[in-house]
Amino acid sequence: MKKKLLSICSLFVFCIAMTSCAENDTETENDNTNILVAYFSLAGEQYDVGVIEKGNTEIIAEMIADATNADVFKIESTEAYPTTYDGLLDVSKKEQTEPPQIAGTVDNMENYDTIFLGYPIWWGDTPTIVNVFLQSYDFSDKTIVPFCTHSGSGLSGTDGTISELCPDSTIGEGFAILGSTAQNDRDEAKNSVTEWLSDNGYI
Ligand SMILES: Cc1cc2nc3c(=O)[nH]c(=O)nc-3n(C[C@H](O)[C@H](O)[C@H](O)COP(=O)(O)O)c2cc1C
Repeated sequence: MKKKLLSICSLFVFCIAMTSCAENDTETENDNTNILVAYFSLAGEQYDVGVIEKGNTEIIAEMIADATNADVFKIESTEAYPTTYDGLLDVSKKEQTEPPQIAGTVDNMENYDTIFLGYPIWWGDTPTIVNVFLQSYDFSDKTIVPFCTHSGSGLSGTDGTISELCPDSTIGEGFAILGSTAQNDRDEAKNSVTEWLSDNGYI
């Protein structure tokens, strides 16, 4: 009887060990630490969505990071942005001649070979702070994959802006979605993100 109990216990321990090995294998397969999602996005009052708690682009950035198991860096200014839309219009114009400083840095940028770069379209282009980010690191031989939220402009040629600032990088196929869809129709947004990631072989 003792022997029988011992065998059952051994079998149980063996099964637990196998399950845990299988889980670890899956974790290793999904461990895409060579992918970074870097994004700029603002809460507060935004066009067409009212006052929001989470920025439109941030919502998309989180979906991409979840799907690809990427690391995340939020691009933030050392100076707080206004939380009113009119205030943002003023500051964003001013930044075009007086670029902001970025708070914090990406640790070990050299470890990443693919950077998903997210931003809202501002004045038909990338916000100045995103250009500052692109000028702050060596992106040579890396792939930069643009994604943006907007209120009608689409990508608006921002893949070209990124290519000009990072001529030695590969620019992946960009993704653009209305800010109002990202904010108010998250199922539709997630489907579009998933389709784009899948079409381009990231998932
Ligand atoms: C200063 C400023 C300029 C903008 N310019 C444009 C534009 O040229 N074209 C466009 O489609 N949307 C424009 N927008 C709308 C934003 O791109 C849109 O609301 C975006 O989803 C905001 O993203 P966020 O919440 O991640 O910051 C502008 C918004 C701001 C604040």
